[in-house]
Amino acid sequence: MKKIAIINQKGGTGKTTTAVNLGGGLALRGYKTLLVDVDPQGSLATWFDPEYERSLYDMLVEDETPDSCTVEVRENLYLLPSDKTAAQAEKILTGQTSRETMLMRRMSDVDNYDIIILDCPPSLSLLNQNALIYAKKAYLPVSMDYLALVGVRNLLENIRQINKILDRDVRVSLVIPTFYDKRTNESKEIYDTLKEHFDGKVTEPIRTNVRLSESSSYNKTIFEYAPNSHGAEDYSTLVERVIENG
Ligand SMILES: Nc1ncnc2c1ncn2[C@@H]1O[C@H](COP(=O)(O)OP(=O)(O)OP(=O)(O)O)[C@@H](O)[C@H]1O
Ligand SMILES: [Mg+2]
Repeated sequence: MKKIAIINQKGGTGKTTTAVNLGGGLALRGYKTLLVDVDPQGSLATWFDPEYERSLYDMLVEDETPDSCTVEVRENLYLLPSDKTAAQAEKILTGQTSRETMLMRRMSDVDNYDIIILDCPPSLSLLNQNALIYAKKAYLPVSMDYLALVGVRNLLENIRQINKILDRDVRVSLVIPTFYDKRTNESKEIYDTLKEHFDGKVTEPIRTNVRLSESSSYNKTIFEYAPNSHGAEDYSTLVERVIENG
């Protein structure tokens, strides 16, 4: 079972869009996929808008089982939702020993998926540390602007700290350029910088595509909303890459 934390401390780099469409694309190809919303913004729950009774909070704080907090949102696609109560969960966890490994321990028996994708908040939070330690593998969506590169540097430093202080082995396994526009020098330069720094781990870019931003307000993946769009093409390419060697 593959586990992936989709993470970048910078806001708005395409983390949630990537979680939705990577998950949606894998599910369409027959992979049983669980999306875990680690973000108290509840972006995944907003995107799919399912009815649910329990959320990440109940799993982390009330000792509810992961299964009882999970809803099916599509064939092969499941969601463990979050909402603002996750921020409360984080506060409660802060006072506990082994606070960084709570998610890992609560989810230790979950083995009935082909892949688990965690959508992380744009922060250096305890919830993010939990997600990284559980998944061990991180995918970094990086938007094509210079501030995003600074965000990447900070995240790498934080991962180093987690590995050192908590004796873990968290690795960045893919870097996903997002909001790519081939007409701008900034896109090209940042893409090249990423390729220099993350030899072999940088995927084909996800182009800026208005269909991607529209799809969330229709509660659809890009494959449902605009299957012939650039967005669908780019996320299909990413799905293939993840199946092959992500
Ligand atoms: N390739 C793209 N082209 C156009 N719009 C996009 C693209 N990717 C994401 N968006 C839009 O940009 C906004 C931010 O994307 P998204 O929510 O996926 O980022 P995020 O990293 O999850 O943000 P946050 O840090 O707040 O969690 C959303 O409105 C989304 O619809
Ligand atoms: Mg998000």
